[in-house]
Amino acid sequence: MKKALITGVTGQDGAYLLQLLLDKGYEVHAIKRRTSTFPTARIDNIYQDKELIEQRFFAHYGDIHDGMSLISAIHKIEPDEIYNLAAQSHVRVSFENPVATVIDNISGTINILEAIRQVGGNIRFYQASSSEMFGSTPPPQNEKSPFNPCSPYACSKVFGYYQTINYRQSFNIFACNGILFNHESPLRGETFVTRKVTRAVGRIKMGIQDKLTMGNLDAKRDWGYAKEYVEVMWLMLQNSVPDDYVIATGEMHSVRELCDFAFGLVGLNYSDYVKTDEYYYRPKEVDCLCGDSKKAREILGWQPKVKFKDLIELMVEADLKLAAEEKKLGRFIAMY
Ligand code: GDD
Repeated sequence: MKKALITGVTGQDGAYLLQLLLDKGYEVHAIKRRTSTFPTARIDNIYQDKELIEQRFFAHYGDIHDGMSLISAIHKIEPDEIYNLAAQSHVRVSFENPVATVIDNISGTINILEAIRQVGGNIRFYQASSSEMFGSTPPPQNEKSPFNPCSPYACSKVFGYYQTINYRQSFNIFACNGILFNHESPLRGETFVTRKVTRAVGRIKMGIQDKLTMGNLDAKRDWGYAKEYVEVMWLMLQNSVPDDYVIATGEMHSVRELCDFAFGLVGLNYSDYVKTDEYYYRPKEVDCLCGDSKKAREILGWQPKVKFKDLIELMVEADLKLAAEEKKLGRFIAMY
C-alpha cells in the first residue's frame, strides 16, 4: 500500500487530496498543529469513518516550523509521497502579517525538503506553488513566464518554488512545483473572493444578509475547480521525471463578472447589493492572471472539465443550501 504525508490537510486542497488518495487506496498521514479548537470541519466525514481512522488515516502532532518533528515523522511513516500544502495563503492578509506569512511559507518548504534529504530514500515531493508568483507579468502565463511577485505571500511562494528546484538539482530529489491558478469549491475559505460572493448570494437570497462589501471588482482571475486540481498534484508525482507545471483553465473573468453571474443565477442584480470599500483593496494588486496549462495537458494528460460558469453554479447551489439551513436554525453557521 502506498503511503502519503500531507501538510495542510484541513484546508480546501488538503481535504480534497486526502479523499482522492484514500479513494486510490493510499494510507494517508497528516501533520497537525495543536489547537484548542478543532479545525477539521472539512474532513469530519473522514473522522466519522471508523475503518479509515483505524487503518488508513493518521494525523500526527507536529509543526512545519519544527524540522526535528518532521524528520521523526518521516522516519516513522516512511511515506512514498509528501504533499506540502500548508501555508498562510491569504494574499491581502500577507500585507498585514508579512513576517509571519513569509516565515510560515518558507520554513515549511525548506524544513520538509531538508527532512527528505536527511532521511534519504525515494520520497516524492509536491510543492504548492502559486500563480501569484507571476504577479504583474501579463497573461497568458506559462512555465516560462517571468515572476514579478506583488505581495509578501507571492514572494514567499517564489522562495518555495526555487528551493524545490534547488533540492531537485542538488540532491536528485523527485520534487515538483504545481503552479496552480486560483482554484475554488464549496470548501473554499469564506474570505476568498469566489466563496465570499457565493456565500453572500445564498444568504441574500434567503433574506438573512443585506449587502456585500467587496474590494477591487476589476481584478481578473482564472478560476478552476479545486477538486480537479488536486488530481494533477497526484499525477505530477506519478510521472517518470520530476518537473514544474502551470495548472489553469485558460479562461479569465473579472470579479465584477463573478458578481454579475453569481447574483444572476438567483435572479438578483449584483449592483443592488454590492458596494466596495478600500479596506478590501490590496496595497499592490495583481490585475490579470490567466494560465496556459499546455504542458500539463500534453505531458500529464490533465485537463480541467469544470470551467467558470459550472464552478460558480455548483458553489451557489451549495451555498443556497447552507443559507437555508442557517435560516432554519436562526444562526450563522461558521464554516472554515
Ligand atoms: N479575498 C477578496 N475579498 N478578494 C477580493 C475582494 C474581496 O472582498 N474584492 C475583490 N477581490 C479581488 C482581489 O483583490 C483579487 O484580485 C481577487 O479578487 C482574488 O482574490 P482572492 O480570492 O483572495 O485570491 P488571490 O488571487 O489573491 O489568491 C488565491 O489564489 C492564489 C492562486 O491559486 C489564494 O488562494 C492564494 O493562496 C493562491 O496562491
